[in-house]
Amino acid sequence: MTEPLGSAGAARPIVVANWKMNGLRRAGRDLAEGIARLKQAGGELACDVIVCPPVTLLFELHDTLAAAGIALGGQNSHAAEKGAHTGDISAPMLADSGCSHVILGHSERRANHGETSEAVGEKAAAALAAGLGVIICVGESEAERDAGDALDVVGDQVRKSLPEQGGSGDIVIAYEPVWAIGTGRVPNAEQIGEMHRHIRDLFKQLKSGDVDGLRVLYGGSVNAENAADILSIEGVDGALVGGASLSAEKFWGICAHYGH
Ligand code: PGA
Repeated sequence: MTEPLGSAGAARPIVVANWKMNGLRRAGRDLAEGIARLKQAGGELACDVIVCPPVTLLFELHDTLAAAGIALGGQNSHAAEKGAHTGDISAPMLADSGCSHVILGHSERRANHGETSEAVGEKAAAALAAGLGVIICVGESEAERDAGDALDVVGDQVRKSLPEQGGSGDIVIAYEPVWAIGTGRVPNAEQIGEMHRHIRDLFKQLKSGDVDGLRVLYGGSVNAENAADILSIEGVDGALVGGASLSAEKFWGICAHYGH
């Protein structure tokens, strides 16, 4: 399968579309074609774009996206390579369907499926072994932020979710405060900047200084209107976009921040 992303390790920003559990074939195809058309018409972008549709659409959308230089990602994968895990998808299966990346440890999976940071770390190790880049999600709840524990909570998640393997070229971290996801509420620039610095410092420490290629994305209610402000914050290397990625125009309005 083609590998549309730029060279590994280049600290190019990334904008990721997380469609979550949305998209039957027809609508998914229309959306992917819409994004591909806007990308092709929009000229060079100083960022990489990854679309993470439901697993049922991966193979279906791969060629359309690849032709526009857009990479494909999964939304989750199992820690085992294969075996008796009914309903699960392994990292090699995602790679075999043309994915270059997988989102792991999204707060919806942590909350709805009891995924611990340790489990996320095991999944990440398996995904790296399958040749995928990993997008590891971390983020505090509103109560944790109100209690003044946000840095500690996220720091603990990063420490436990990072696999021993891999480095700044193939591990991406997405800071997604749980209270900002799908709510229209966004932390202020100071809070985002502080958390991204914290994550970067911690990664540097845990990966023996290998931090130059690291991308720390922000996620949570990013839209075409607030994208310029959020993506301009020092230490923000792109975005993980949920709701706004379900419209080609709205998603493109975010990517276009990196246009010329
Ligand atoms: P949102 O979701 O953009 O709809 O807030 C972000 C995410 O959950 O990744």
